[in-house]
Amino acid sequence: MCGIVGYVGKKKASPILINGLLKLEYRGYDSAGIATIENGNIFCIKNKGRVKELQNSKDIDKLNSTIGISHTRWATHGKPSSANAHPHLDCHKNFAVVHNGIIENYIELKNFLINAGYSFSSETDTEVIPNLIDYYYSIDKESGPDKFVNAVHKAILDLKGSYAIAVLSKYEPDTIIVARKDSPLVIGINNDEKFIASDIPAILDYTNNIFILDDGDLVKITQNNLTFYNKNLEKIDKKSKIITWDAKSSDKGNFEHYMLKEIYEQPTAIRETIGTRIVPNKKCDFSDINISKSYLSEISRIYIVACGTAMHAGVCVKPIFEKLTNIPVEVDIASEFRYREPLIDSHTLIICISQSGETADTIAALKNAKANGSKTIAISNVIGSSITREADYTLYTHAGPEIAVASTKAYTSQITLLTLLAIHFAEVLDLPKTEIIDSLKNELLEIPSKANIILENVDAIKDFAKKICKETDIFFIGRGLDYAAAMEASLKLKEISYIHSDSYQSGELKHGPIALIEEDVTVIGIITDRRLLDKSTSNLQEVISRGAKTLIITNQDVDKKAFPYIYNIPKIHPFLSPILSIIPLQLLAYYVAKEKGLDVDKPRNLAKSVTVE
Ligand code: F6R
Repeated sequence: MCGIVGYVGKKKASPILINGLLKLEYRGYDSAGIATIENGNIFCIKNKGRVKELQNSKDIDKLNSTIGISHTRWATHGKPSSANAHPHLDCHKNFAVVHNGIIENYIELKNFLINAGYSFSSETDTEVIPNLIDYYYSIDKESGPDKFVNAVHKAILDLKGSYAIAVLSKYEPDTIIVARKDSPLVIGINNDEKFIASDIPAILDYTNNIFILDDGDLVKITQNNLTFYNKNLEKIDKKSKIITWDAKSSDKGNFEHYMLKEIYEQPTAIRETIGTRIVPNKKCDFSDINISKSYLSEISRIYIVACGTAMHAGVCVKPIFEKLTNIPVEVDIASEFRYREPLIDSHTLIICISQSGETADTIAALKNAKANGSKTIAISNVIGSSITREADYTLYTHAGPEIAVASTKAYTSQITLLTLLAIHFAEVLDLPKTEIIDSLKNELLEIPSKANIILENVDAIKDFAKKICKETDIFFIGRGLDYAAAMEASLKLKEISYIHSDSYQSGELKHGPIALIEEDVTVIGIITDRRLLDKSTSNLQEVISRGAKTLIITNQDVDKKAFPYIYNIPKIHPFLSPILSIIPLQLLAYYVAKEKGLDVDKPRNLAKSVTVE
């Protein structure tokens, strides 16, 4: 998705802007650009392609200004090209704008502006914004200090859709104005330097003192001042937050890719997520949300709503919630949930999971649920992210920044946190579940060391990756929670290796998918539930007898003679098995993609946070 970085201070802006854009590369993009003010005029450089090309462009050294805005674009309206790249200037070159989001009524606004004498040079929705600002600036007969702010405010009142914008004006060469609605934006401060970013890691090298903007906020930023306004242009106070992530936590360190680093960070991430919630001989500590017994007793259904990997984490915890709380749970894909008119009222509880906290569909689903009288809990990894400001209650995973597009440590941390939440609900409800609760608590605490055992045993996975990297179709099968892990394993493989893969419940194979099994097709089975060992191995025998190659991820006694490739993982409570069984399969996806020479951290067409529908 698009990224924004801005700077106003006393240093040369362009290296800071480029450095910030490089930190946002992980979000996925197709073009990049920068605008500064040089000798009273806006100077803009942009190109299709990588930030490195922008950095190497011959004009970049000519930028000496200490103020600027910059952008990485992920095409929505108009193909990737230098004309469509941001920043966009109005046709009189008085204002420059970078924008994340989508302006839904841009055609109407464009027609209005064309009639008013404005011309356009790109196919984007964004280009209406600088032209609208110029229009309102030019018709304002006042010449007071608020003229720039007023023009931006009037322009955004006309916009329908979502936006985070940063605006430069040649009339006020020491000021940047930013505004947001349904798209994230933060401002970092460090004495007399101000940093703007759509994502905190872009500016962590310079500051961790961050203002997180709310929908409707508009801010006038100069080297020494920040003036915050609400949507009615009334001045407001805002407090900054100290973000505990440090610059190093968003670096690759000694790892070749962020994805590999994040796979290896899982033991720490899980430990951090558990934090101090498990208290010896006491109930779990969830004093940060304070949910009462009387409220929970009235809940007749829980919906877990999310997208992609986060939704898969929801699938893993559904049986845990049902077993521990006796409340029925449905897991929904957010983009479906928001339009399917689910039965929601004050007796339903909605748990939305979003690593980034910025996924448009998940946020919309949460807002719908709230509007229909349901209480909402957000599970997120990003402090202050949009979803956390919409939800009634927020719980953080504390997995540290996840930079790779393919989500890994967020998934295992989400399952960990949600398992703890299910335990908490059972404890609040005083249900007689002590035995299973004690066992889950003990086993959760053992997960980091068990995960480390897997992370130290990667040679077999690397070998298998070499064997299958030329495949075109791979199948993942499992039963129960092994199927839940198979769904995630299949997503991981397809998104970074571009190999078509599918996941099936082992018992479903005979109902259709087995027609696809022929000589040398790879089928990966997960078996961690002792009760289902025989049935699951029979299903794998059936594919072997049709010529399939198999790999089994298991912690059970699987017959070594019958199955040539078995990868053993440590034993674990069946409810927690996906946290361990996914790790070798994350590694497999990684090594297959690497074997194919693909850009693991930036898979094609994908973005880290999907802030548009
Ligand atoms: C897959 C992946 C995506 C995200 C999904 C939701 O590896 O990363 O499927 O899980 O886009 O993102 P969040 O959790 O940020 O809402």
